[in-house]
Amino acid sequence: MSTNPVLVWATPLQAAAMAAIHEAAFPPGERWSADSLAIQVGQPGAFGLIDPEGAMVLARVAADEAEILTLATVPLLRRQHRATALLRAALDHARAIGARAMFLEVSETNIAARTLYEEIGFRQVGRRPHYYGQVAALTLRRNLS
Ligand SMILES: CC(C)(COP(=O)(O)OP(=O)(O)OC[C@H]1O[C@@H](n2cnc3c(N)ncnc32)[C@H](O)[C@@H]1OP(=O)(O)O)[C@@H](O)C(=O)NCCC(=O)NCCS
Repeated sequence: MSTNPVLVWATPLQAAAMAAIHEAAFPPGERWSADSLAIQVGQPGAFGLIDPEGAMVLARVAADEAEILTLATVPLLRRQHRATALLRAALDHARAIGARAMFLEVSETNIAARTLYEEIGFRQVGRRPHYYGQVAALTLRRNLS
């Protein structure tokens, strides 16, 4: 099923909502607290988008490079293209404010996320062994021009 969610810009005031989504989406140990999310979304160049039904993305732009910091959809709402909509909106915003490429790190074993990123046009440009404990991180890049 596909959906066309209404997205809301995140501010530190929405940190609790973002944390609730993050907590539902990630296992213990990988969840980001509301305090941490509030600090991150308040950093220069950072921006967040929330699908109030239950998905969120946090990203930042530095000079002409952008980076996805985290992306999450709550389990009950997965496979409705909510993360796709958030990623596309983040790509559009990053491009609009001057970024020429978007980067991210993804666990080598995270097939759901890797498939999603591949479909959106990200390609592997690096591999960092033991980035997540025993598991490697893949560095992915997508051109924004
Ligand atoms: C990865 C995640 C954000 C995807 O969210 P989502 O809203 O379900 O993603 P979408 O519906 O936009 O998926 C788009 C496409 O990605 C691929 N995809 C998504 N989940 C998949 C899965 N579990 N297995 C295989 N492919 C998958 C599919 O091609 C899907 O299209 P389709 O449903 O038409 O086949 C979600 O599974 C999640 O929150 N996971 C836990 C947190 C996480 O890993 N975040 C990313 C960290 S880098």
